[in-house]
Amino acid sequence: MEKKELLNTGKAKSVYATDDAEKLIMHFRDDTSAFDGEKIEKLAHKGAVNNQFNAFIMQKLQDAGIETHFEKLLSDDESLVKKLDMLPIECVVRNIAAGSICKRLGVEDGLDLSPPTFEFFLKNDALHDPMINEYHIKSFGWAEPEEVEQMVDLSFRINEILKALFLEGDMLLVDFKLEFGRYDGRLLLGDEFTPDGCRLWDVKTREKLDKDRFRKGLGGVVEAYEEVARRLGMDIHV
Ligand code: ADP
Ligand code: TMP
Ligand code: ASP
Repeated sequence: MEKKELLNTGKAKSVYATDDAEKLIMHFRDDTSAFDGEKIEKLAHKGAVNNQFNAFIMQKLQDAGIETHFEKLLSDDESLVKKLDMLPIECVVRNIAAGSICKRLGVEDGLDLSPPTFEFFLKNDALHDPMINEYHIKSFGWAEPEEVEQMVDLSFRINEILKALFLEGDMLLVDFKLEFGRYDGRLLLGDEFTPDGCRLWDVKTREKLDKDRFRKGLGGVVEAYEEVARRLGMDIHV
């Protein structure tokens, strides 16, 4: 697999073309961003940890019957993925209230949400990823009506699979963000699932083990990600 030109430099990953028009290389960098790029720092080894973490989770999802873009690990901090036509939408599932929903709705941080709830956001840093609804998605043509249904259904299925997985490691999956894209007429899970895009709390102490450590300046960010990986039985090389 030959690495070709740089196609896209995001806040945390760089995407390269390959000699196969249907495949891309995703390079997970050490850059860590919060508040839509307002706070950015390099955290040593984060790229390698997240790349291998993402590979592990994507494989678990694939084993459970969820189709994803993930093909294979290429190195500590690079993976080969299927090239998707990404929808400009972020899907968020919440099991416990934290972050923006607490500010927006005035609900208490840590409140159990039963059943879990779901929100769509527009992927647009300049607008600070505003919350949108399914009518916006249809009226502005950001996705087809059946894709809207599929995103909700897949997100809740992924929630059930991963909630159980993290609980085995004594962690609560508080919330997470997913991105989907089109491939060959189907909707596949793209982008990443890592502690950069979810909230994970220790089940007993509710200690934060995710990017909230960076957002809130708590320190020990990559160490927390490694702890999560260790609890899930991953063997990470940095
Ligand atoms: P951002 O700053 O956009 O949030 P990243 O630094 O994570 O994001 O960069 C990754 C970019 O690659 C994102 O724009 C994401 O939507 C896109 N992407 C993820 N997976 C795929 C894929 N399989 N095919 C095409 N683009 C993808
Ligand atoms: P929020 O509480 O800020 O809305 O975030 C909910 C979850 O989604 C949290 O785990 C962080 C994740 N998320 C991202 O990873 N990127 C984003 O751009 C947004 C809006 C949320
Ligand atoms: N993912 C967004 C960013 O990188 C928002 C956040 O995580 O706070 O800035």
